[in-house]
Amino acid sequence: MERLASKQEVRQAVAEARREGKRVALVPTMGALHEGHLSLVSAARDRADYVVVSVFVNPTQFGPEEDFEAYPRDIERDMDLLGAEGVDLVFAPTPEIMYASDAAVTVDPGPLGGVLEGAVRPGHFSGMCTVVTKLFSIALPDLAFFGEKDYQQLTIVRAMARDLDLPVKVIGCPTVRECDGLALSSRNVYLSSEERHAATVLYRSLRTAETLVLDGERDAAVVAGAMRDTVASEELAEIEYAAVVDAVTLEPITALSDRPARALVAARVGGTRLIDNIALEVG
Ligand code: PAJ
Repeated sequence: MERLASKQEVRQAVAEARREGKRVALVPTMGALHEGHLSLVSAARDRADYVVVSVFVNPTQFGPEEDFEAYPRDIERDMDLLGAEGVDLVFAPTPEIMYASDAAVTVDPGPLGGVLEGAVRPGHFSGMCTVVTKLFSIALPDLAFFGEKDYQQLTIVRAMARDLDLPVKVIGCPTVRECDGLALSSRNVYLSSEERHAATVLYRSLRTAETLVLDGERDAAVVAGAMRDTVASEELAEIEYAAVVDAVTLEPITALSDRPARALVAARVGGTRLIDNIALEVG
């Protein structure tokens, strides 16, 4: 497995793989890898011949008050994990390599980038879209893998690939969870043991929503209200939003129907911001 920091070297390595007729997959990450990331790598391994993983904590998707500096970094451990997964190439640039000091052009995610996470984290999805576009144009993958854990991100990346005619197939992978339902996240390391226990409330609120819908509830406001009540029952958790939206447009819905819907929740547990989501299926 190769580890490269230079865009040019990545381009060359991928071009060579392509000359050999290989199908190329990219798995973008910010490192501090866990089983959730590794499930994307494994899906990429199954569907491609040459797997590139990028490890880059992207400064432009963090707000000024957010955890860019504190974000966990451990490239040596990440390399060991990726080596064991049979990855071909790790692209681990520095911010200086990634961005020209006077870089000014960014990618606008449009209305999908202004709701839910985008409303709480202004600029986040523009930074994400910009870095993902750069990664796509550096690695030129046939396939790119993203987790449903970040459902809005996945939705925006799909829309971006379509609207900008990016020649890449975006593939979504299911959320990997701990036994008690907590979605794996690099940020879970911030949680104290008490907070770690309380953090299961996000998944519990999603399961509440799922059960209500399975039991016949069709009023989206009632479902979202029940999610909010569940989070409120946990003293250490503070809700940011609980929403029931159209799974494709992310627009709020009033009633659940045959169209796919998604329940999304964001909450602070102690100082740590956590998000999660689940599909809501009628019938
Ligand atoms: P990061 O948070 O490191 O996540 C990298 C990828 O792993 C994303 O597609 C994310 O949805 C997926 N992932 C994280 N936790 C997961 C879980 N529990 N189950 C399944 N997949 C999971 O998302 C980013 O980095 C960045 O925004 C990035 C796309 C790399 C752009 O900087």
